[in-house]
Amino acid sequence: MLKLERVDAYYGPIPVLRQLSLRVRPGEIVGLLGRNGMGKTTTLKSVLQLTTVRRGRVHFGGRDITGWPAQRVPGLGIGYLPQGRRVFPQMSVRENLLIAPATRGRSPDELRLVLARFPQLEGRLQQRAGTLSGGEQQMVALARVLLLRPRLALLDEPTEGLMPGLVTQVEQVIRELKTAGAGVLLAEQRVATILALCDRIYLIEKGRIVGESLAGQLSENKLRRHLGLGGS
Ligand SMILES: Nc1ncnc2c1ncn2[C@@H]1O[C@H](COP(=O)(O)OP(=O)(O)OP(=O)(O)O)[C@@H](O)[C@H]1O
Ligand SMILES: [Mg+2]
Repeated sequence: MLKLERVDAYYGPIPVLRQLSLRVRPGEIVGLLGRNGMGKTTTLKSVLQLTTVRRGRVHFGGRDITGWPAQRVPGLGIGYLPQGRRVFPQMSVRENLLIAPATRGRSPDELRLVLARFPQLEGRLQQRAGTLSGGEQQMVALARVLLLRPRLALLDEPTEGLMPGLVTQVEQVIRELKTAGAGVLLAEQRVATILALCDRIYLIEKGRIVGESLAGQLSENKLRRHLGLGGS
C-alpha cells in the first residue's frame, strides 16, 4: 500500500534522505528505528509530501503521489501523529478531534466509541486542550488519528515521554489500528515498543536504511546497539 523507492528528500537545499526504500502493507506494523536526527520524522514527512523529494518515488494505494500538494495527501486516508503532542491549545478537545475535514462529519456515537479507549478524556470534551497534561494531549492527538479511520497511520514516536501505563494504552491503540486493517509506520526509539508491536523493522542511520528484518529475527541487543545504547 505504501512504497518508497530510492527516495532522496531535501529541506530546501539540505539533503536528508538518501536512496531510502521501504514498504508498508495493509494490516502491517512497520517500525522505523534510529537515533535522534537520523531521519525518522523526515521519512514520515516525505510520505506526506512535506519535504522536497528530488529523486525516487512515493506510491500509496497504487498511485504515484510524488510531488503532490501536501494538503491533498491526508485525503487519501493517511493519518499522521506528529512528534511531540501537537494539539491546538486554544481549542477545546472536541474541536481538536473534529477539525480535520475527514472527521468533521463523524457522528456522536462514533466519537463516543473512540473516546471509550481514552478514559482520561471522559467529561473533558469542552476543556481547552492546552490545559491538559502532556500525556492527555497525546491521547487527544491519537484519538484524532483513530477518528480518521486511516488506511495508513504515520506515528512519530507516539510513546515519547509517556509514563508506563500510558505507553501500554498507546500500544493497545496501535494494535487496534492493525486489527482494523490499517498499515502503520511507526517511528520509534523505544526498543520494547518496537519488539512488542512490529511485524517488520527498518533501521535508519544518517538518512539511509541500513537494515531490514522481520521483527522476530532481530535481537534486542542488535536493536539497542543500533540506538547506541550498548548491549552485549
Ligand atoms: N526543517 C528542517 N530544515 C533543515 N534540516 C532539517 C529540518 N528538519 C530536520 N532537519 C535535519 O534533518 C535530519 C533528520 O532529522 P529528523 O527530524 O528527520 O530526525 P529524527 O530521526 O526524527 O530525529 P528525532 O529522533 O530527534 O526526532 C537532521 O540532521 C535534522 O537536523
Ligand atoms: Mg523525529
